[in-house]
Amino acid sequence: MFTKETYIRRREELKKKIGSGMILLMGNGEAPLNYPNNTYTFRQDSSFLYFAGLDTPDLYCVIDIDHNNEYLFGDELTIDDIIWMGNLPSLKERSESVGINTVLPVAELNGMVKAALKSGKKIHYLKPYRYRNQLILGELLNKTITEIVANHSLELTKSVIDLRLIKEDCELVEMELAGEIGYRMHITAMKMCKPGVSEREIAGTIEGIAIAYGNRVSFPTILSQNGQILHNHNHENILHRGRLMLTDAGAENTSYYASDFTRTIAVGGVYTQKQIDIHNIVLKAINTSIDMIRPEITYQKIHREAYRVIFEGLKDLGLTKGDTEDALANGAPALFMPHGLGHALGLDVHDMEDLGETLVGYDDEIQRSTLFGYKSLRFGKKLKERHVLTVEPGIYFIPQLIEKWKQENINSDFINFNKLKDYYNFGGIRLEDDVVVTKDSCFPVYCNRLPITIDEIVETIQS
Ligand code: GLY
Ligand code: MN
Ligand code: MN
Repeated sequence: MFTKETYIRRREELKKKIGSGMILLMGNGEAPLNYPNNTYTFRQDSSFLYFAGLDTPDLYCVIDIDHNNEYLFGDELTIDDIIWMGNLPSLKERSESVGINTVLPVAELNGMVKAALKSGKKIHYLKPYRYRNQLILGELLNKTITEIVANHSLELTKSVIDLRLIKEDCELVEMELAGEIGYRMHITAMKMCKPGVSEREIAGTIEGIAIAYGNRVSFPTILSQNGQILHNHNHENILHRGRLMLTDAGAENTSYYASDFTRTIAVGGVYTQKQIDIHNIVLKAINTSIDMIRPEITYQKIHREAYRVIFEGLKDLGLTKGDTEDALANGAPALFMPHGLGHALGLDVHDMEDLGETLVGYDDEIQRSTLFGYKSLRFGKKLKERHVLTVEPGIYFIPQLIEKWKQENINSDFINFNKLKDYYNFGGIRLEDDVVVTKDSCFPVYCNRLPITIDEIVETIQS
């Protein structure tokens, strides 16, 4: 948790941006796993954490801008809660620690909201991504779930995005800690990556590191020899010499900030020439991208430049052909990298994606492309100092996609389809780092960059 003044200042800035009406920030509740008392690990809503700091269930923050009042709605622990779940400082004390001095029982929220509606006050709320909060808002505002989801406040959404995108010093400290845990996870994965070891054992071990040093993983671990399946959560395979293991994993630290790194390594550290060639193109793409990062450049442009490096690198290997500018304009490199170069990172691994991916990553000036590959870029707009982003280019050989393009003659002026047959068992290589945009460039969120050259990776595996 940050200082009381941090939360007070953030709410002041939010009030200034919205101007009038009432803001209702919904905390999360416990979610049953297979019966009510056996719950998923509780995770507070990230915007609630940002503005109201408290990480326990069943809390609501109301900001009455017109009367300059702030309220925390929540119930003090009962003796039964204390017997089963343990004690906590009173809600009043916890509320004061984030600068909110009035605590009211949850049962009174309905009355306050109904009175506000009656007086014609606008109630701003964010789009609820959990059914529980959709239902609660539906009852409070007397609307159907469809109406609740549709009528969330665009003004509030945009204001929250503006504030949360610019990371404060105190947040960067937490992100560095999340980065450190992610670093330990990946070094462990590299050292375990030997023939005969199961993907499951490595995935389980590194997820344990996330839990041991932080709260949990920041997203379900992707760890597989089938790196061409982009969000592959299957860990059923045994590692074999000659294959690659792609690990995309990160941690959420105890203050709920995320890290998100990817490394792809040859099992046992023994690389084939094909793997070395593709690795070095992806390495050039990530380094070129990072070198370009600075305020005012758009991430859309950097994504395109990463595509250029990939297309030209593959041309040197005889896998692509033709004019690079034409290939870029037609989206040919997307055959090998059908995802975006990166995304905002913060309290969420895909920061604020609940508020709308396009609202976070684009604006009136920079529109989302509709072209395959480019359209998957989650964050395309102009960079600003203190944005935190992932940089994650990759090259994948997805047999079904290659076959589809070949049969449908898509971008056949730029792709040597017949040469790609030799790569159908290759898998994919992705490399991912997390960076903070500075005044004139960027720096890594966590100061120790994970081993990334083949020499560095081999040395780590063998140490
Ligand atoms: N969570 C996967 C990624 O964005 O890297
Ligand atoms: Mn990742
Ligand atoms: Mn990522």
